[in-house]
Amino acid sequence: MSDQHNRARIGVIGGTGFYSFFDSDAEQIEIDTPFGAPSAPVSVGTVDGVDVAFVPRHGLRHEYPPHRVPYRATMWALRSLGVRQVLAPCAVGSLVAEIGPGAVVVPDQLVDRTSGREQTFFDTDAVHVSFADPYCPQLRAAAHEAAVAVPAKPPVVDGGTMAIVEGPRFSTRAESQWFARQGWTLVNMTGHPEAVLARELQMCYAPIALVTDYDAGVNAGEGVSEADVYAVFERSLAMLKGLLTHAVALVDAEGECDCAAGGHDLAALLPGLS
Ligand code: ADE
Repeated sequence: MSDQHNRARIGVIGGTGFYSFFDSDAEQIEIDTPFGAPSAPVSVGTVDGVDVAFVPRHGLRHEYPPHRVPYRATMWALRSLGVRQVLAPCAVGSLVAEIGPGAVVVPDQLVDRTSGREQTFFDTDAVHVSFADPYCPQLRAAAHEAAVAVPAKPPVVDGGTMAIVEGPRFSTRAESQWFARQGWTLVNMTGHPEAVLARELQMCYAPIALVTDYDAGVNAGEGVSEADVYAVFERSLAMLKGLLTHAVALVDAEGECDCAAGGHDLAALLPGLS
């Protein structure tokens, strides 16, 4: 693989409705991994002078629903292209009345409510990564600072717990009320296993959650509709791209965090990972 291919340290994984990132020409890199192909070829381009690798989580035509996204292949592909820091925008439902559609939340915790997803690269070695704090503090700070500075001025919330459900259905009212009673803030379908796979690959990772709806338990309305989720995301896409453009400029490539400390010898365990 050429050095040109390997030039981006920062990766962005586009969520629902977010299928491209670069205004100017980007290189499209087809890549195969031991876990198959990622959700789409990785585009490597430049935003405001910063090299970035971009991949749309659900594929270029949203062909992968949340429970079918090739998470391991996508994370492996980014890492093997040189990415070490991943910003991960995603659509979320709100579990609290104070945080409404259009808000941006930078979560600090997650609760895994998925079932049966492949969530590790280490099926034959006993590797147990620390995951008490699932997100990189440095990337979270950059995301938060960028969200506050974005001209559209969305409401911004620093911190919150994101519950990740298996989907593809939305939650029932009772499930949603139960999530809220636990003190959780947001609900989403893709935040797991992305974050833990990043940690296993010793990459920094932070989600940037765009609230597209109130989840079913928050008020007595009709519940969540797919159309509402898409409409809010589409309305917010320019804001989100601006936020990410600013965030990638703020990320310090040599910043202080423990995400890569790992304690496991990645090169020995995954020799195929270039
Ligand atoms: N993604 C966006 N809104 C959601 C919701 N209410 N539940 C799960 N995933 C979502």
